[in-house]
Amino acid sequence: MPVRPRVDIQAVTELTELADYIVPFAIRVMCDMSVADQLVDGPRPVEEIAAATGAHAPTLLRAMRALAGRGVFTELDPGTFALTPLAEPLRSDHPFSVRECFPLMPPDVTSWARLTGAIRTGRTAFDDLYGMGYYDWCADHPYECDRFERSAESVNPLVLRTVVPAVDWSGITTLVDVGGGHGTFVAGVLRRNPAMSAILFDLPHVAERAPAVLAEAGVADRCEVRGGDFFSGAIPPGADAYLMKTILHDWPDERASAILRAVRAAMREDSRLLVIESVRTPGDGWDVGKVMDVKALALFGGHTRTEEEFAGLFAGAGLRLASVTLTPTMSVIEGAAIEGSVIEGSVIEGAAL
Ligand SMILES: C[S@@+](CC[C@H](N)C(=O)[O-])C[C@H]1O[C@@H](n2cnc3c(N)ncnc32)[C@H](O)[C@@H]1O
Repeated sequence: MPVRPRVDIQAVTELTELADYIVPFAIRVMCDMSVADQLVDGPRPVEEIAAATGAHAPTLLRAMRALAGRGVFTELDPGTFALTPLAEPLRSDHPFSVRECFPLMPPDVTSWARLTGAIRTGRTAFDDLYGMGYYDWCADHPYECDRFERSAESVNPLVLRTVVPAVDWSGITTLVDVGGGHGTFVAGVLRRNPAMSAILFDLPHVAERAPAVLAEAGVADRCEVRGGDFFSGAIPPGADAYLMKTILHDWPDERASAILRAVRAAMREDSRLLVIESVRTPGDGWDVGKVMDVKALALFGGHTRTEEEFAGLFAGAGLRLASVTLTPTMSVIEGAAIEGSVIEGSVIEGAAL
């Protein structure tokens, strides 16, 4: 006789909440339509919110009501909504706004829908679907590229708040931000270190957006912007430190190693390497590194790494892992050159691209 499954109604309810995609898509709508911004001055009836955001009021009501059931907004009187702690970070003027964080763009969502295939084959869902890597595809899709960059950088105010105090910046007067995106992170570092100057290095179609961000942050005069490919040997040489924030987890080991070897080739013997991303930890505890690992499988083809895996990756590129500092957001994995480890003139050619 088959054993009957254990019935735990609470578990079934919890799983249903975990598995549904209604809430993420409804939150996305609130962000796209700037709904939280309409509630900054206090509660408002849905008709007013709809008029201000260009929504169909009875339909907006349905979405907001569903979200209020999860604590995102509260329905004070029938059809009248207010912000809650969970809705506050959806405001565009919130210092740690997550409004841009989860764009749920169609190519991303379609790739996620193929996750089963990725887990069957070990191949990246996005690459299988589009026949190329995410960043190559972005080069011909400026709208999605811009939204992706903004989503990646939307956590930077929070990461800056937690990571900058964890790093000893003394002695760093020249910094290269490798894959620096639109520059929000390096801008934050420069603002906190007035004697420092930097070079932001990223693909040309991404880097071209950085000057405006740097100017708005008031650091444009201390940050040069250079377009280039980190697989091509164009990383500016000779800086005191090389920063790579949320870069390596996008790439499988041989590609990540190629990037690190290119960085190592650009470093002086005494340059510092500051890798900022999640370090995957063992056990069942919540760890953003574990979920980013699955995201990499859906979209980018890389994976997150444990401290030991970082040490191995560094060693293969002539670098030693000097320290790992955990912060409430990302970790700082610091590397230093292993003396004499540069393969003269052949680091790039020799890298497994
Ligand atoms: C996840 S984003 C991180 C952006 C930035 N470091 C941050 O955390 O705010 C990854 C960055 O790597 C850049 N990138 C991808 N492939 C690259 C390449 N071949 N050469 C230079 N940059 C590249 C992307 O354009 C993107 O800006």
